Amino acid sequence: MRVLSGIQPSGDLHIGNYFGMMKPMIEYQETSELYCFIVNYHAMTSVLDGKKLAAGTLEVAVDFLALGLDPEKVFFWVQSDVPEVTELTWILNNFTAVGLLLRSHSYKDKIQQGIAPNHGLLSYPVLMAADILLYQGERVPVGKDQQQHLEITRDIAFKFNSTFGETFVIPEAEINPNIPLVVGMDGRKMSKSYNNTLEIFCDEKILRDKIARIVTDATPVADPKDPDRCNLFITISLFLSPEEKEELAHRYRKGGVKYSDVKKELFARMWEYFKPAREKRKVLEKDIGRIRDILKAGAEKARAKAAPTLSLVRQRVGLDY
Ligand code: ADP
Ligand code: TRP
Repeated sequence: MRVLSGIQPSGDLHIGNYFGMMKPMIEYQETSELYCFIVNYHAMTSVLDGKKLAAGTLEVAVDFLALGLDPEKVFFWVQSDVPEVTELTWILNNFTAVGLLLRSHSYKDKIQQGIAPNHGLLSYPVLMAADILLYQGERVPVGKDQQQHLEITRDIAFKFNSTFGETFVIPEAEINPNIPLVVGMDGRKMSKSYNNTLEIFCDEKILRDKIARIVTDATPVADPKDPDRCNLFITISLFLSPEEKEELAHRYRKGGVKYSDVKKELFARMWEYFKPAREKRKVLEKDIGRIRDILKAGAEKARAKAAPTLSLVRQRVGLDY
């Protein structure tokens, strides 16, 4: 099976990114043909600072490798190193209803946050469709927030196929039913844009402080509590075995749980969980030249995979004459 997903270099990666996308991707490298890329063209919709974008791109690459992505086993590259994706985007624009893009939750959210509604922001999902269709991705591991983007991709692929004959594989989103969306410190979806994240590679003191600020209710210690409505419980569960989770849920329901103790335990668990990656990261970041080489070699391999699809598309739409 061909599994594919991308991530934006638009800020420090958090545990929502990890459990929603990075962890499933890293697991797939053992069993599938895996395409993993850093979507720097997409990040331009929020980062218009050249130095920051370039540095952020390398940071995400180091993060992914530190967490266990093996460039020998997968296609791993930076989106803009295969610029053919922008050619396909233009072609797909002609199969995309403007109304569909205007209804996108993510577009509406961003406008509401005060971001200027420029064309890049509106056509973001078309570029994402090109990312997926160019490599004929079958399965796309993402968080639930990306589900609508996948539906747009499918819609575009159907339209193209019904106009020009079977060309694109129709991809499917893969959303972990147990963790569709990781909650942030304030109880909303964890997201870089809400400033409510727990970063994977956070400084120790900052992480402790952030965890201490996780919003909890005012139920007295002795009273029973509902674990399913407690965002601290939901977060610590990410780091617990099913038995440990059940045991903590039982203690919540019985009463006597002190939120500050659970916060200390969450810090300890999370710090330990990412320890091997933190250590690997320290080594990797010493040789950025090597990271660049890995990405450039990955782009060459990805480009070769993209070529037959783009050439078929060009032929079908009549660009080859
Ligand atoms: P952010 O919302 O922080 O900007 P991105 O849009 O860059 O995150 O998301 C990168 C990947 O991580 C996507 O597959 C997205 O669905 C996933 N993701 C982001 N936030 C969460 C979350 N809170 N829970 C689960 N998955 C998430
Ligand atoms: N839109 C995705 C996000 O914000 C990133 C992305 C770009 C992507 N191209 C993709 C995800 C292709 C999966 C497949 O997270």
